[in-house]
Amino acid sequence: MRIDVLVIGGGGREHALCWKLKQSPRIGKLYCAPGNGGTRAVAEQVPIGVMEFERLALFAEEKHVGLTIVGPDDPLAGGIVDHFKARGLRVWGPSKAAARIEASKAFAKELMREAGVPTAAFEVFTDHDKALAYVRAQGAPIVVKASGLALGKGVYVCQTLAEAEAALKEIMLDHLFKDAGNEVVVEEYLDGQEVSLHALSDGSSHLLFPPSQDHKPVGEGDTGPNTGGMGTIAPLPQVSEGMLQELDASVVTPTLEAMKKRGVPFAGLLYPGIKLSSKGPRVLEFNARFGDPETQVYMRLLKTDLLDLLDACVDGELGTQTIEWHPGFAANIVLASGGYPGAYEKGFPITGIEEAEQVEGAVVFHAGTALKDGALVTNGGRVLGVSAVGDTLAHALDRAYRAAELVHFEGKYYRRDIGVEALERR
Ligand SMILES: Nc1ncnc2c1ncn2[C@@H]1O[C@H](COP(=O)(O)OP(=O)(O)O)[C@@H](O)[C@H]1O
Ligand SMILES: [Mg+2]
Repeated sequence: MRIDVLVIGGGGREHALCWKLKQSPRIGKLYCAPGNGGTRAVAEQVPIGVMEFERLALFAEEKHVGLTIVGPDDPLAGGIVDHFKARGLRVWGPSKAAARIEASKAFAKELMREAGVPTAAFEVFTDHDKALAYVRAQGAPIVVKASGLALGKGVYVCQTLAEAEAALKEIMLDHLFKDAGNEVVVEEYLDGQEVSLHALSDGSSHLLFPPSQDHKPVGEGDTGPNTGGMGTIAPLPQVSEGMLQELDASVVTPTLEAMKKRGVPFAGLLYPGIKLSSKGPRVLEFNARFGDPETQVYMRLLKTDLLDLLDACVDGELGTQTIEWHPGFAANIVLASGGYPGAYEKGFPITGIEEAEQVEGAVVFHAGTALKDGALVTNGGRVLGVSAVGDTLAHALDRAYRAAELVHFEGKYYRRDIGVEALERR
């Protein structure tokens, strides 16, 4: 039976989810709220913000939406899933209580300590002077994190003590992240490659995705401030099938079990960010949603019907599902506005997307775009994700970069070294 679906969010992740859902033989009407300049090609645009729970629920009721899928962290942390469920609406995503695993890094760290999940050594502070004393005792390099949601900007990887002291001041005394900085996690600095895991969970069973890798810092060679993510590759060649199974057993399974034991089963997408450090794999954080831009590469590789998977997840029947992937690799290059993650201008016309999509294997996902007087313009820090698939990682990257060069807008900036470290380490 066909089912009408509402996707909540307006970034590259949601465009990729809509793009994949649209391919389901069971999809009826597909809505996206609020969507962006690209989602309208595959979904009907609904001009309601992601935090307007009541209006979204009314829309879902009115349109007889059979499944609502929540993309971003903020509505999940704010309890949108509980709100929909209380109204008797079918919704995919973790409850507010379960989403704390992302919304409170302090909660996640305590959970990992309790469940024996390998993570960077840490302490949690609410008092600035105590945090300062600890940081001074530990010395640099050291990592200071606002515990709450901070748009990917609340983490300070500090190479010197002065940087760490400044970070504590900004978070705890200047309240740069408001209440998100009421608690602070100070943790051990870890070297090594990062890997993103994605596990779809219905609270009892889970299915693991192939390992992927994001590139957080804005500059090439991992320099400059952290962003929401500048580009992704999957699968990450350094993580063998055996390593993936080990990470499943040491990270994903015990975490989901610990959540269940606490009475807050995690149903949705659990996304651990991991460092493959010289001491062994260590979890940096958990996210309670699909990664952005990880989703853009996963949707290119996923063979199984996404709607079937998410439906089974909502019904607690994930154990009956298998997940299949296309062979080969995918890459996604983020084209950002000049100045991002700092201040940047919006409203520049975008051209060349059709040409880019003529490159074999390429698909362009929109993130910060909008239509203005019928023309596509930039409307955010991360503007587009240019994705491509290929038989090898080098092939996928080559196609993605060729396509990325064909897109134009004033101030276009992108990293030219996405996936390079993974290629060189092979
Ligand atoms: N302990 C650590 N050692 C080294 N780098 C870290 C550490 N923790 C975080 N980072 C870096 O900072 C980035 C952001 O940290 P993370 O905990 O994932 O927070 P968020 O994604 O919420 O900003 C990570 O992707 C990683 O590059
Ligand atoms: Mg992260």
